[in-house]
Amino acid sequence: PRVFIPRDAAALSVGADAVASAVRAEAEARDLAVEIVRTGSRGLLWLEPLLEVEGPDGTRYAFGPMTPEAVPELFEAGVPAPDTAHPLALGPTEAIPYLADQHRVTFSRCGIIDPLSVADYRAHGGFAGLDRALTMTAEEICAAVTDSGLRGRGGAGFPAGRKWDTVRTAPGETKYIACNADEGDSGTFADRMLMEGDPFLLIEGITIAGLATGATEGFIYMRSEYPHAITTMRDAVALAEAEGWLGDGIHGTDRRFHLHVRVGAGAYICGEETAMLESLEGRRGQVRAKPPLPALEGLFGKPTVVNNVLTLAAVPDILAFGPDVYATFGVGRSRGTQPFQLAGNVRRGGLVEVPFGISLHDLVYRFGGGTASGRPVKAVQAGGPLGAYLPEHLFHLPKDYEAFAAVGAMVGHGGLVVFDDTVDMAAQTRFALEFCAIESCGKCTPCRIGSQRGVEVIDRIVAGEDRDANLALLDDLCTVLADGSLCAMGGLTPQPVRSALRHFPEDFDRPPHTGTARQAAE
Ligand code: NAI
Ligand code: SF4
Repeated sequence: PRVFIPRDAAALSVGADAVASAVRAEAEARDLAVEIVRTGSRGLLWLEPLLEVEGPDGTRYAFGPMTPEAVPELFEAGVPAPDTAHPLALGPTEAIPYLADQHRVTFSRCGIIDPLSVADYRAHGGFAGLDRALTMTAEEICAAVTDSGLRGRGGAGFPAGRKWDTVRTAPGETKYIACNADEGDSGTFADRMLMEGDPFLLIEGITIAGLATGATEGFIYMRSEYPHAITTMRDAVALAEAEGWLGDGIHGTDRRFHLHVRVGAGAYICGEETAMLESLEGRRGQVRAKPPLPALEGLFGKPTVVNNVLTLAAVPDILAFGPDVYATFGVGRSRGTQPFQLAGNVRRGGLVEVPFGISLHDLVYRFGGGTASGRPVKAVQAGGPLGAYLPEHLFHLPKDYEAFAAVGAMVGHGGLVVFDDTVDMAAQTRFALEFCAIESCGKCTPCRIGSQRGVEVIDRIVAGEDRDANLALLDDLCTVLADGSLCAMGGLTPQPVRSALRHFPEDFDRPPHTGTARQAAE
């Protein structure tokens, strides 16, 4: 029988390797031929390490969170079997409601296949999009991506097909694809999970982007904090080259595409597209003024597609199944599916891929099960550290770029961080400004200086010093940051600040402190 154990970083961090060793040792002790397949993660993170045993009809049965101590009992029936009597048995994996209620498109293979098996990838529908793209003109591929309604999954939601078309029609022979895998938002891990669990999908998507725009070279910019994803991605690129569907003569055609993995040195701002391009060129990651747009003058001054991992990874299925099929999912102008990520104080943290339009309430309660602490949910921060804090009365909001923007929030990269009623929103606000101060690239004044002044103003408000004047000052500072910053780092920092002030004013309304902020801090 086959036993599946993830090699994803989240599973490894809670002992997946020890579980795999225990299975191997037990099988050897019993002289059994057990095949252990190391997969990506299914994304049910509270159940990691999630071990799966393949039943006689191919159905997989889940056990978790697995421990080495619980392994011998797996062999009760002689060989690892879908034994429902095992104390950690969860039944057929696909029937677990958290998975059964999802609609996985981009993550359809993640956690199922061996990430570095080309045969496994092909057997599960891999290459269908690339094969289709090889029969299309560049213009047709761009049109298909436009028709699908795919928007940039990095957070800004710009129509992907339009961006590709801009690069396709830009003058010049040399063009690039730059994949942004510098997933820096707190509470997000979808890019990492995909690169560790289904790296060929990303390679396929990037190659299609090359065919669609005339680019013959691409770069994946990865954060150094993702060592497992880096190794997997590098191995996958080498295998793809060896298999002949990356490099010269893709799939026996006269088309070519070369792909390189580059690793950043660890700075949040390098996820901003122009800072990422600077870093890729070997310079310090500092934001460039736009225009010119990277689509026209990007990497080394050449027309460049800069897309997030999830945007590029959505493309093979769009071509394989047709743009119309992808566009049937979603609401309004938010088409397709989004891999949401549940994190923070949540009972069932993990990855939830569903069509746009799902409510925040469903994500937090139906999937997430409320808080891990069992206390009431007080707020959810949506869209990373620069996203808004949303209170319960906004949980009816559908996940939709426009609906979120209408209340001063953003979908972002799909991250959701849950907080219970013990959270101090004034402290969270301070954190947002401090984060901006630390991560600022320093190029423009509102962000470099304003964020630091903001921290000081919050300290004075919390200390009860001249409260009304300081609140007015903070509001003024937020306006300067939003309107005067060169990039989204400074521009979005007011979002957590203003949402916290608007929805949780009581947390800023403490009894006046008699001393100064400095004395209070001391
Ligand atoms: P933006 O709205 O300026 O641009 C979005 C994209 O569209 C860029 O690639 C831009 O070059 C391109 N673009 C704009 N107009 C174009 C045109 N006419 N033709 C072709 N391309 C065009 O947004 P920006 O500053 O790139 O990103 C901000 C977003 O980043 C935020 O909304 C936030 O959600 C997200 N973000 C994501 C993080 C993550 O870890 N994934 C971290 C921090 C922020
Ligand atoms: Fe740099 Fe901040 Fe200005 Fe962006 S807003 S360019 S991060 S200083």
